[in-house]
Amino acid sequence: EEVHVFAPATVANMICGFDILGFAVDEPGDEVIMRKTEKLGIEILKITGDDGKLPLDAMKNTVSHSAWKLFCDLGLQNSFGLSIELHKKMPIGSGLGSSAASTVAGIFALNELLGQPLSKKELLPYCMEGERLACGAAHADNVAPSLFGGITLIPSYEPLLVRSLPVPENLYATLIYPKVEVQTKEARKLIKDKVQLSKAIKQWGNIASLISALYENDYEEIGRSMQDEIIEPNRSLLIPFFDEMKQISLENNALTFGISGSGPTVIALTNDKANAERIEQHLHHFLHIHQIEHQTFVSKI
Ligand code: HSE
Repeated sequence: EEVHVFAPATVANMICGFDILGFAVDEPGDEVIMRKTEKLGIEILKITGDDGKLPLDAMKNTVSHSAWKLFCDLGLQNSFGLSIELHKKMPIGSGLGSSAASTVAGIFALNELLGQPLSKKELLPYCMEGERLACGAAHADNVAPSLFGGITLIPSYEPLLVRSLPVPENLYATLIYPKVEVQTKEARKLIKDKVQLSKAIKQWGNIASLISALYENDYEEIGRSMQDEIIEPNRSLLIPFFDEMKQISLENNALTFGISGSGPTVIALTNDKANAERIEQHLHHFLHIHQIEHQTFVSKI
């Protein structure tokens, strides 16, 4: 018995909603193949596409670590074993929810293999365990959209709540990944733990307005509200030519521009596919001239 599961990359934070908002893209993403084995325990058979960066040790790998927790909580550890293949089809440490896509694919695969004993909501905490292992914080803004699809909101962590938000018909993400590695763990250390009240007011106004704009298909307001003055000023320093890429995107009618998750991937949002591709071309050309190795993706949200 084996199952194959694909889980998509995600854009956490949606620029203004640190740790509480995120959306899934069509591609890239990761694939997990999981099999039942007679041998007890859990093992990683192979990992491809990671340039040897990920641990094969089952207790250190986010996929097997989280799947094993679920397996044991269901009391199955003495019934049979599990073997896992992980095929990474997206860059690691890119700000596209790489660890989340792998973990979600693994947890979902296990649930399928077992005949769906748990609902997606019940699977979410197990996916978050993978994030805790990956970066030290069990944030859900990558795993929730990767698991549920579309746009998700985490209204609360204690108790853990998740809500799917409406996805307006024409939203496209142009994702540019400049090949510098940013570890989420390190990028989280850059965030100040005190926020000025005037900035907080702006930010919660923007989050509230973004949610209502998603319900109203108000593209202009979606763009206006997706901005961040709390985290972007620090994290953008790790991203080559961030300000220039922002300027080029906004000059080419992007609704907004910002950091995807903890970076270095950046996102330009548009409500027109041709425009999304035009921005991709402009940014590709710009980074090419400046000899910054990069990868680009355009995806419908
Ligand atoms: N909300 C998390 C952060 C996402 O910004 O650190 C990490 O991908």
